[in-house]
Amino acid sequence: MGLVILRNDDLVNRWKKVLQHAAPDIPIYAMGEEVPHEAILMAAVWKHPPGSLSAFPNLKGIHCLGAGVDFILEDKGIPEELPVMRVVDPFLASDMAEYVLSQVMAFLKDLHRYKQDQVSGRWHPRPYRRIGDVTVGIMGLGTLGRSVAELLLKSGISTVGWTRDSDPDVDFPNFRGDAHRNAFLEQSDILVCLLPLTPDTRGILDYNLLSRLPGGALLINVARGPLLVDEDLIRALDEGLLSGACLDVFHKEPLPASHPFWNHPHVHMTPHVASVSDPDSVAPQIIDNYRRLTEGRPLKNEVSRERGY
Ligand code: GLV
Repeated sequence: MGLVILRNDDLVNRWKKVLQHAAPDIPIYAMGEEVPHEAILMAAVWKHPPGSLSAFPNLKGIHCLGAGVDFILEDKGIPEELPVMRVVDPFLASDMAEYVLSQVMAFLKDLHRYKQDQVSGRWHPRPYRRIGDVTVGIMGLGTLGRSVAELLLKSGISTVGWTRDSDPDVDFPNFRGDAHRNAFLEQSDILVCLLPLTPDTRGILDYNLLSRLPGGALLINVARGPLLVDEDLIRALDEGLLSGACLDVFHKEPLPASHPFWNHPHVHMTPHVASVSDPDSVAPQIIDNYRRLTEGRPLKNEVSRERGY
């Protein structure tokens, strides 16, 4: 028996330490180490090299180290019957809410533009907006979307939500399905995207959608890069339909140096840090699912392959 951590970054050893501490009885291996492939029953993965899971013939399940499992479901080398689990964690939810609130406030108070003014030595006061001046629209009302809505509402910010097809069961105004998408977009001075990346949502943030937002709107994409059509965003910004975009996620990460986002004055970027799994908080649920898997008990936070999240 054993659990392998597959992630190609320098956090792999921290995860190993924390998981091992949470379960001294389970052999835990990190990518790059000598791993007894036959003994591995579960892989805990984050952006693993595609195809690498086929090296473990006795694998019984895959645990994502984050919330979004798109990169696992896209790995066609993984047998369909292997269960995939994702992280649901209070910090992952509250960190996302804090990040979005920060970007909303920075937009209202023009903080990104003042930073640019400072860099170019320009003194240029602008009229500022208040919380009561805008409505934030959240696309995707899963755990993260609902957490963001909760903090925004608590901060007095008018918030509406949209889901593709599920009943969000929330107590703030929300819209459902393609038929009501434009009505939702037309109210969203700030659009926050927290949809899962699936074949149905890839490219959903296109010119057609962006042009339905009120003039001068802000886009905040904190979900996955491929939800956005990059060229369409640049067009919408250059035509003045949108006044800015805060992007934490990209088609390719790190974003290639030649990408036009780097130098676009209205694109504000962070390097996929809006909300990052905290090993100390998350390790117990991974170990719990490992034990459930090996004891044949029902798993927690199992992903539906059909829905894609
Ligand atoms: C972060 O992007 C996550 O999916 O947890």
